[in-house]
Amino acid sequence: MSPVPGAPAVEVRGLTVDRGHVRALEDVSLEVATGSVTVLLGPNGSGKSTLQLAILGMVTPTAGRIRLLGRPVREALRAGMVAAVPQADEIDARFPVTVREVALQGRRPFTGPFRRPGPADRDAAEAALDRVGLAHLADRRIGDLSGGQRRRALLARCLAQEAELLVLDEPFTGVDARSEAVFVDVLRELAAQGRSAFVSTHSLGSLDALADHAVLLDRTVVAAGPAAETLTPASLVRLLGVRP
Ligand SMILES: Nc1ncnc2c1ncn2[C@@H]1O[C@H](COP(=O)(O)OP(=O)(O)OP(=O)(O)O)[C@@H](O)[C@H]1O
Ligand SMILES: [Mg+2]
Repeated sequence: MSPVPGAPAVEVRGLTVDRGHVRALEDVSLEVATGSVTVLLGPNGSGKSTLQLAILGMVTPTAGRIRLLGRPVREALRAGMVAAVPQADEIDARFPVTVREVALQGRRPFTGPFRRPGPADRDAAEAALDRVGLAHLADRRIGDLSGGQRRRALLARCLAQEAELLVLDEPFTGVDARSEAVFVDVLRELAAQGRSAFVSTHSLGSLDALADHAVLLDRTVVAAGPAAETLTPASLVRLLGVRP
């Protein structure tokens, strides 16, 4: 299973999602181009996480259609083509796994659930930890890391997976300025390799360096397009009430 040549990384058409009695998304259509970083902006409760969860097959749409790399969501996920850093830190702080083991989890699409990781998997996990500046903490228990270090470990897991598409929900939360710059560098590198990222963020300071494209969301798509045209002071004031 591989991406369909020429297909966008993410294609969402007419997506409506109800969460309980709340209509979290209404008739959302958008594309994330391959080989680019697309940022997702919107106020609290505007549906950013819901949209990303739908892309990851974790909430069920009321209506609409999603394709990832030209494939149905389930197929793309099963093939390991998509990696994610969720907003709510899903790692149980008490869970007795090391930072290295978290990075190695990214290799599961290669090793399968039962096969032990081989040298190539270990090398990939090591390289990913090195890239996010956590190699020296590889033997630490994940629960003994700071919040920002834990998010870097989750990024390392994505890198180890060598996924075509990264879906990151506020990856900069709790991350210091130097690590945020590392995240931006890593995502730009992946885009240069033809991979794609869809990144929700409230961190306006990184937008210039990070974003090729932007989607402004407020339950539905308010604006979308090239970053320079979409992330104007006027549109950000209207959406978020702040100037960049
Ligand atoms: N588990 C849930 N059950 C019911 N409603 C939910 C649930 N999660 C989110 N919602 C509602 O869905 C809407 C969209 O929430 P969502 O988490 O997608 O917003 P968000 O843009 O990610 O916000 P934030 O910037 O705070 O992360 C909100 O009205 C929220 O209250
Ligand atoms: Mg959210």
